[in-house]
Amino acid sequence: MSGPANRRLGVLISGRGSNLQAIIDAVAGGALDAHIAVVVSNREGAAGLERARRAGIPTATIRHADYDSREAFDLAVVEELRRRDVGLVCLAGFMRLLSPAFISAFPDAVLNIHPSLLPSFPGLDAQRRAWEHGVAVSGATVHVVTPELDGGPIVRQAAVPVREGDTPASLAARILEAEHRIYPEAIRAVLDGGWRIEGRRFVAGSPGGVL
Ligand code: GRF
Repeated sequence: MSGPANRRLGVLISGRGSNLQAIIDAVAGGALDAHIAVVVSNREGAAGLERARRAGIPTATIRHADYDSREAFDLAVVEELRRRDVGLVCLAGFMRLLSPAFISAFPDAVLNIHPSLLPSFPGLDAQRRAWEHGVAVSGATVHVVTPELDGGPIVRQAAVPVREGDTPASLAARILEAEHRIYPEAIRAVLDGGWRIEGRRFVAGSPGGVL
């Protein structure tokens, strides 16, 4: 049985932060019993930082370009998260690969959202690649982060059918709506605990957390 010891979230972003906004809204609306302790961006001026400030959430900008190595950057982020007593790290459009040093600092406590039905289309530009491939159904996935890119245990998925006349942009817009729905749900499932990881499977606890 697993689950983070506390409900303090650290959200890592690089850009517009619409998933961050969905998490902020879920917390504010009472759908998600959590506290966003800090939003960290690796890019100055990321639009998501402004969303955090508007919500009164502490922010930190840690520029990867200021560090000599991936590990050094990652450890600076870990230090900030520890300073804020974060129990669960949520990647929300964070465009950096995390090193094993980061992941082992938060064992089974780093989540990511990806705009495809994993394991199809890991990596960048997943919505366009799914559309170009001609799939009938794409979607969104929240998974536990492991050293394998977009390869960790799947916590939640939502299917998004491709419609006739879709463009990569229209498909991406509908996938984004699904992302905003499932990310807060997945965070809630992880925070509620009672789950375990068996091989690559995230096995949810029963409601109430007792199996
Ligand atoms: C989302 O599509 C997410 O799945 C991917 O990056 C995008 C971030 O968008 N990892 P936003 O910054 O949350 O608006």
